[in-house]
Amino acid sequence: MAINYDKNSGLITIETAHTSYQMLADKKGYLLHLYYGKKISGSAEYLLTFLDHGFSGNPDIAGMERVYSLDAQPQEYPFYGSGDYRSVCFRAKGNTGADGVDLRFVSAEIKDGKYELENLPSSYTDNASGEGVQTLKVTLQDINIGLKVDLLYGVFPENDVITRSVLVTNESNNKVKLEKVQSLNLDCMPGDRDVMYFHGRHEFERQPDRMRVGHAKIAAYSGRGGSSHQFNPFAILMTPDADEKHGEAVGVHFVYSGNFLIDAEKDQNEMVRLTAGLPEEGFEWILHSGETFTAPEAVMTYSESGLGLLSRRIHRFFRKHICRGAWRDKERPILINNWEATYFTFDGDKIVDIAAQAKELGVEMMVLDDGWFGKREDDLSGLGDWVVNEKKLKGTMKDVADRVNALDMKFGLWFEPEAVSEDSDLYRAHPDWAFKIPNKPMIRGRHELILDFSRNEVVDHIFEMMREVLDNANIIYVKWDFNRSIADFYSAELPSDRQGEVAHRYVLGVYDLLERLRNRYPELLIEGCSGGGGRFDAGMLCYTPQIWCSDNTDAIERIHIQYGTSFGYPSVTVGAHVSAVPNHQTGRVTPFNTRGTVAMSGSFGYELNLGLLSDEEKHEVTEQIALFKKYRHVIHTGDMYRLTNPQEADALLAAWMFVAEDKSEALLNLVTLNVHGNLGSRYVNLEGLDEDASYRDETSGMIYTGSQLMNAGYPVRDFTGEYQARQVHFVRV
Ligand code: GLA
Repeated sequence: MAINYDKNSGLITIETAHTSYQMLADKKGYLLHLYYGKKISGSAEYLLTFLDHGFSGNPDIAGMERVYSLDAQPQEYPFYGSGDYRSVCFRAKGNTGADGVDLRFVSAEIKDGKYELENLPSSYTDNASGEGVQTLKVTLQDINIGLKVDLLYGVFPENDVITRSVLVTNESNNKVKLEKVQSLNLDCMPGDRDVMYFHGRHEFERQPDRMRVGHAKIAAYSGRGGSSHQFNPFAILMTPDADEKHGEAVGVHFVYSGNFLIDAEKDQNEMVRLTAGLPEEGFEWILHSGETFTAPEAVMTYSESGLGLLSRRIHRFFRKHICRGAWRDKERPILINNWEATYFTFDGDKIVDIAAQAKELGVEMMVLDDGWFGKREDDLSGLGDWVVNEKKLKGTMKDVADRVNALDMKFGLWFEPEAVSEDSDLYRAHPDWAFKIPNKPMIRGRHELILDFSRNEVVDHIFEMMREVLDNANIIYVKWDFNRSIADFYSAELPSDRQGEVAHRYVLGVYDLLERLRNRYPELLIEGCSGGGGRFDAGMLCYTPQIWCSDNTDAIERIHIQYGTSFGYPSVTVGAHVSAVPNHQTGRVTPFNTRGTVAMSGSFGYELNLGLLSDEEKHEVTEQIALFKKYRHVIHTGDMYRLTNPQEADALLAAWMFVAEDKSEALLNLVTLNVHGNLGSRYVNLEGLDEDASYRDETSGMIYTGSQLMNAGYPVRDFTGEYQARQVHFVRV
């Protein structure tokens, strides 16, 4: 049993393979958090201490007991109005307009299987899997306003994962205004914690930033409508001693693709609190009598042995319980994308020509990027008009797809479904379908506006346009782009007191369109994208099992971006391509081999004009593809180990490896970063191998034991020059 509820004591215990999670419905009816960490036996109630903390409020039920204050106790789901002045997860107003609720425990219910969320993506299990997944529902109530709050927990014992969501139901006859509904709170008993956020910018996403949680709030957030390049909706809370191999760490993902807030603070009593979910800023939701609001899911993954294990647990969980659909376990096709090869300048012949050249070298799919529709010769016009430009293509989309298919290649197509250009037929017909605030000068981004996906008719229309294209040509892949931050959240459809719902309703509209596509085209592979990695999150991964990781294709920058991404996301979800040099984003020149090695650590492809390659380079492409086909399974289904930190000042070497689940083989990847004169050999300690087994280095033929490679190290010899790459394949003998 993963979950236990003891009615007499009020103790609720969740157990996974390595963790215990405990909360207590105390005698006063409040839900206190007791413990989350390495497995313990017995009740952790003894951890609670009750002292009089000046200026910490006492709830009425405590009578004159000044030592009982929610401001001083660890809480499971803190709410505004309880006398707790730290960050809270929940805030609502009833018909008096007064700000403050009183949430008390009502019941706890345990069920087999995993809960599902209406209209929102979430993790799932195949119930027949025998993994013992269970759901806990803890119900809280505010009798004054008439609110029911169900806290949902999904427990995946084998993965050491606990998921969370919240349902808020208005049980009164009046309307209720929700001002904040976050999905997760984690209170830790007094002590130090570090938090790691993943910040970035366009072309440099998900850079790990670690800091001690001090006595002030530190937050990762997005108000951009998408989850953003600037912060990822993923954070790690850990003990200060945590590194790749040691220490306790909890990964928190928000399974959502829009605005979010994760904040951490240390309180007056040295307790650390982390909350995650929808932000308060820009959010308000009117809940009419009988209606329920569903907060998106948050996923907690635990590791007792550092960040490496944390990531590997996350990777396994994401591969089986977040990613779904026909492509979840299928080998992802090696693709060529024409964007950096042609930008907007192409016709049907050129596309078929690129495909033909790519086919010769072993590429499996041709992806036609931006510019095939409406009037779209640059990024000033055409978005929203998803009608094939047959003049430009010199034929129908079916013609192009058939010609590509005739080469025995698959065919894929780019869309930016949420965007509209002012110079488009769609905008001319429906100017009110774009987000704009009446009488306020609008904010453009990449010359485009964003469609109001909170409106059904808008989603209907875009779906119909996409359907027309997808039904009429053999398209097995879609690249779904989203190329700006939203600024003017205003829906012409909603009344003034509901404008605070627009940002969330928009994301629900995006999921609705994705869901419709999923139902109509179950075999379609959708790759997410948002100016590269601006919407790389667990919500999108439920629909798009791979996401273009960054518009930055420079191999060295990609080492940093993919390193940061690997903390929270598995390699198979990371779109990564070999591009031309000098690199279009940085101007850097790196060897072909290095670009290949780095791109192979993801869902692999090419994005360059093959016609400009020398014969030698073409030969390298053929070899790279053959290697990737050989290693694809270990890269995409194996365990990943980060062996060095490329962020370290003057780091000499980037080293990371993949090990097959059964430890029968491993792929070590090495790239030189900085170089110095007279450098001796470097030694890299491998990980994840079978200590007692022997492994053959396929390149040198040398045989080592697993324990040698992991404890004494692997010598990296004769490896000079900046930005050189080497892959070493080890096979168990
Ligand atoms: C975004 C994407 C690119 C490309 C362009 C097309 O920037 O990230 O890969 O598709 O849009 O306009």
